[in-house]
Amino acid sequence: MQHAVTQLELLGVPLFSRGKVRETFDLGDRLLMVATDRISAYDSVLPNGVPAKGIILTQFAKFWFEELKDLVPNHLLTTELNDLPTHIVRYQHLLHGRSMIVRKADRIDIECVARGYISGSAWAEYQSNGTVCGQRLPDGLQESDRLPEPIFTPATKAQDGHHDENISVEQMVEIVGQDLTDQLQSITLAVYSRAEAMAREKGIIIADTKFEFGYIDGAVSLIDEVLTPDSSRFWDAELYAPGKSQPSFDKQIVRDWLTESGWDREPPAPALPDDVALQTARRYLEVYERLTGQTLDLDLSDR
Ligand SMILES: Nc1ncnc2c1ncn2[C@@H]1O[C@H](COP(=O)(O)OP(=O)(O)OP(=O)(O)O)[C@@H](O)[C@H]1O
Ligand SMILES: [Mg+2]
Repeated sequence: MQHAVTQLELLGVPLFSRGKVRETFDLGDRLLMVATDRISAYDSVLPNGVPAKGIILTQFAKFWFEELKDLVPNHLLTTELNDLPTHIVRYQHLLHGRSMIVRKADRIDIECVARGYISGSAWAEYQSNGTVCGQRLPDGLQESDRLPEPIFTPATKAQDGHHDENISVEQMVEIVGQDLTDQLQSITLAVYSRAEAMAREKGIIIADTKFEFGYIDGAVSLIDEVLTPDSSRFWDAELYAPGKSQPSFDKQIVRDWLTESGWDREPPAPALPDDVALQTARRYLEVYERLTGQTLDLDLSDR
């Protein structure tokens, strides 16, 4: 069985940023982004990981970057590590499959969210005001309903440990200007619409997703991760039933187990039993294989 990689330190390689799931290393004009097998649920990172989750996440991002590159340029250079300096290549066994070498961008500090369905913070705002990020939506929508058309709902990037804050498109204009707002809105909606239609053919609903952009050589480019289960809400189309919150395609096994464990959702979270972690890994692999039509050479057997 795959062993879960939850801690990662590369001696002599400076850290660029450490997130809940990924470790990003600074290579000068490039970044080495490594997805670990860490998993978060209800805002806490669990003490143990989900074997191979980071590999599956990275392969997802790679698939989408390739699939979407005619719509917008992106930061991905390669997922191959052979050309790296030897003091990094010696970690090959840990990094393989879960790493991307990307061009460092001048990041635009707005989270660009596209929503085709109403859920999460959008549902909460709609219930109290009838709006989402200040945009009025038709009356009578139910939780998880498909929207008449996808909407663009920007947010500001939160400082460590805080939630991103939804803002209106007008507020975004004040921060980055009208031209860039228009450009990011149209790329966000084009990319989401393409991906959502592709996924729907495979029986998967991408309810919403978050993109980040930056400038690379003066061009607005897609950065960070794209359309992974960590940056998107994936639902099983066969189980879709609006009027309530939908089970998450990837994380539901974890959420259900955490709820049954009686955990009060205050950190620290309890460790997942091995069989729950393994079932979760198989679930991530299933959504990857269904969506991309590709297989991954991973050992997710019991031993
Ligand atoms: N090509 C790039 N150039 C510069 N910065 C980038 C690039 N791609 C991604 N980033 C930034 O690198 C960081 C990656 O961090 P990561 O996503 O692991 O953690 P985080 O966003 O701080 O927290 P979270 O765990 O909530 O996602 C983010 O701040 C992201 O905006
Ligand atoms: Mg992030």
